[in-house]
Amino acid sequence: MPNGKSILLIVGGGIAAYKALELVRLARRKGIAVTPILTKAGAEFVTPLSLAGLAGAKVYDDLFSLTDEVEMGHIALSRSADLVVVVPATADLIAKMANGIANDMASVTLLATDKDIVIAPAMNVRMWHHPATQRNLETLRRDGVTIVGPATGAMACGEFGPGRLVEPPELLAAIEAKLISCVPKPMPGQALAGKHVLVTSGPTHEPIDPVRYIANRSSGKQGHAIAAAAAAAGARVTLISGPTSLADPAGVTTVHVTTARQMLAATEAALPADIAIFAAAVADWRVANAADEKLKKTAGSGSGAPALALTENPDILATVAHLKAGRPACVVGFAAETEHVIANATAKFRRKGCDLLVANDVSLTGSGIAGGVFGGDANAVHLVSASGVVSWPVMGKDEVAAKLIAHLAALDSGWA
Ligand code: CTP
Repeated sequence: MPNGKSILLIVGGGIAAYKALELVRLARRKGIAVTPILTKAGAEFVTPLSLAGLAGAKVYDDLFSLTDEVEMGHIALSRSADLVVVVPATADLIAKMANGIANDMASVTLLATDKDIVIAPAMNVRMWHHPATQRNLETLRRDGVTIVGPATGAMACGEFGPGRLVEPPELLAAIEAKLISCVPKPMPGQALAGKHVLVTSGPTHEPIDPVRYIANRSSGKQGHAIAAAAAAAGARVTLISGPTSLADPAGVTTVHVTTARQMLAATEAALPADIAIFAAAVADWRVANAADEKLKKTAGSGSGAPALALTENPDILATVAHLKAGRPACVVGFAAETEHVIANATAKFRRKGCDLLVANDVSLTGSGIAGGVFGGDANAVHLVSASGVVSWPVMGKDEVAAKLIAHLAALDSGWA
């Protein structure tokens, strides 16, 4: 899966630095490109030549190198890979990261990058246990840095305990897992700044009588996560939500509705929008003549259960996607399918007139997600567009949301 992905590998100064060489070899065997950055201390333990040889790439070590800066500026370098990895992460590098110190190539890269960071600490057991190190690690965890290890065992210095670098195969597994889900972080408030994003989310409830209704198993988690991700990317967001148990996302204008017809009215009222994302599981039918009073069992009458006459609800997505005037530049639909997911989604993509259709397998078993997609926290989606189908691996609904928003922001020039 990570074939074609790339990492920036920062090699710190510690006895475990030699294991970084083995990591480079294993990563390249998996098709992961490696660009090494060697700290001054790291160069005391491994040579730039061995690192460059194994990586098959130039080694960056000097922040103020004119040649390097001409080839690729240090800021561009920090954004050039899919992931930044620090092996070994020494107490010194960890302290610099936690405090935002940027005084060499490695620390500048760590501060300037827009990519996720994985660190593999290695140090003496007492340095590891020191409150200052633990404080710094806590800061990094809060900052979203992934910390792999350390392992426990005998140290080069003769002591025993946590502080050993995890073995390269284990490290590579952690890197691969991260590469599968890595999402470029939009510059805070920038990627969709100035855009209006409209999102529908959750189920609709269609009344049968004052106490009963037709509904579906949608939780609204995916739609709400998309609204939150769009807000985090700087957009003005209107979320039109059917009945859910979720809190309104922060920084989003949330309009609460119950039925499909109310959702359509709220959607039309919220237009114009630059992007409209229809994640709601709208009930296709409503009861034609919902009763004003609670339906009673006519006991003993022998007439049996009442027959419910259903009538079709308006299709909100298709209505908006086919607008002659005021159509959002980018219309995204969702497809909830239980069989022939891609074939059905491709037909739905054409029928609905949207620019992108996000298809998910909502059958209990088909998605491969324990407990299914509805109500859960994970999703596995396929993106259907005029240029074909792209399948994303199983990931959290928050990650699907962030990735989808990053994808739409990247397409901006295509739809703006
Ligand atoms: N949708 C909508 N209004 C409806 C029904 C669906 O806006 N009345 C939108 C959903 O929000 C979703 C897309 O249409 O973005 C597809 O929904 P889905 O339930 O998968 O498809 P349906 O149109 O209901 O077709 P099917 O009966 O095949 O499921």
